[in-house]
Amino acid sequence: MKLQGKVAIITGATSGMGRATALLFAREGAKVVVTGRNEERAQAVVEQIRQEGGEGMYLLVDAARPEEMKMVVDKTLEAYGTVDILFNNAGALSLSPLLEVSLEEWDRVFNVNVTAALYATQLVAPIMKDKGKGVIINTASVASFAGHFGFAAYIASKHAMAGLTKSMAWELGPEIRVNAIAPGLINTAMVESCGGVEALCGLIEASPLKRYGNPEDIANVALFLASDDSSFLNGQIIRVDGGIEC
Ligand SMILES: NC(=O)c1ccc[n+]([C@@H]2O[C@H](COP(=O)([O-])OP(=O)(O)OC[C@H]3O[C@@H](n4cnc5c(N)ncnc54)[C@H](OP(=O)(O)O)[C@@H]3O)[C@@H](O)[C@H]2O)c1
Repeated sequence: MKLQGKVAIITGATSGMGRATALLFAREGAKVVVTGRNEERAQAVVEQIRQEGGEGMYLLVDAARPEEMKMVVDKTLEAYGTVDILFNNAGALSLSPLLEVSLEEWDRVFNVNVTAALYATQLVAPIMKDKGKGVIINTASVASFAGHFGFAAYIASKHAMAGLTKSMAWELGPEIRVNAIAPGLINTAMVESCGGVEALCGLIEASPLKRYGNPEDIANVALFLASDDSSFLNGQIIRVDGGIEC
């Protein structure tokens, strides 16, 4: 097992790629803290972890209020005594064009996609530094690399996540490694909310692999980044997108 005895906090773990990663990390021996806003789905993830013989708990938090991350770290320390892995994965989509996005929506998207990750990192990094080891993984996006019509706040926030990842890697070493995953089209509730993978079939056609990704495709890369298998990998934004060019 690659994460035996490790403690992992995963934001946005009630669904999609965060959920798949929570299940995989638990199978690999980690104690997993599942966070999100939806209690029913959070409970279901932890129940599955326990049914499979793993260990985990859930904590409800709204990442739009980044200060709530303090409760997550405090309760993790209370329950498990430490934090070894932080996966900043929670994400909020925004479908407003540039000239229509309200400052309220802009702030919400940045709070969930960027500020919560910064604050969670500020809370766990001293713990990891004291231990002499830790791993932080951020969820960026292929939207971290290019612009498109109609997603201004989301695209800006994911570009920010790429920059934040590089800053974290520079400032948190040598004890802590920080990398980001930049998913392409992955079949999750977020994609369902924009019409599903069928509505985005142009992306599939444009992909050399001619398919969309599944949450497990991302979980496998998260496991690689969380484990010592990637011990010399740092400050990278890793595209997991089947090879699309956008
Ligand atoms: N799917 C894709 O094609 C794709 C591509 C590139 C990047 N991404 C990124 O991948 C990450 C995971 O998304 P997904 O595709 O797996 O979508 P998903 O299935 O909709 O999962 C999103 C997760 O984020 C959590 N979340 C959203 N808003 C939150 C808030 N205000 N407070 C706390 N948690 C919140 C949700 O939990 P609750 O609902 O329980 O709050 C859920 O667990 C996001 O950062 C997304 O931007 C996705």
